Amino acid sequence: MNNKISVLISEEEVDRRVRELADEINRDYAGKRIHLICALKGGVFFMCELAKRITVPLTMDFMAVSSYGNGTSTSGVVRIIKDLDEPIEGKDVLIAEDIVDSGNTLHYLVDILNKRHPASLKICTLLDKPDRRTADVKVDYTGFCVPDKFVVGYGLDYAQEYRNLPFVGVVEEL
Ligand code: IMP
Ligand code: MG
Repeated sequence: MNNKISVLISEEEVDRRVRELADEINRDYAGKRIHLICALKGGVFFMCELAKRITVPLTMDFMAVSSYGNGTSTSGVVRIIKDLDEPIEGKDVLIAEDIVDSGNTLHYLVDILNKRHPASLKICTLLDKPDRRTADVKVDYTGFCVPDKFVVGYGLDYAQEYRNLPFVGVVEEL
């Protein structure tokens, strides 16, 4: 693929913001343990960077879900591709996401996870596209709000490419 990518949020800006989020999380979870759950694959870069800055005791688990949709938007029907390895009952669970768009995927995921009775369940996302929201989801920690454009990098893909870009960019020629 040969698309032009322009930088929307630089590596330095992301790094600074991830540290700020971690500081906030460290304060909020003081005296507790965090069970950090990554929504694969997009959330993995953010999860790792965030986890490195968290100072309260932390465990990690991974989940992969796929949303059915028409290509540009998701339907809210989510299929679990890979479930968590560990039970979450009684744990303070924090979900690390790459981006909340319509919110459908997270809405469904939160529903599934709440049925497993965690002590608490919060959401941390690197990016949020609030203009696109159709599902009711409460996001507890947001890195950046972004405009309604297709973004890549820092875990986010376009047809599985560009996840490894160290910054958040916009695909100019889709
Ligand atoms: P939602 O269910 O509409 O909130 O979709 C969320 C998922 O769609 C994210 O976890 C991403 O995998 C994907 N997604 C939404 N917007 C973008 C984007 O701008 N670039 C890349 N992936 C996106
Ligand atoms: Mg995702």
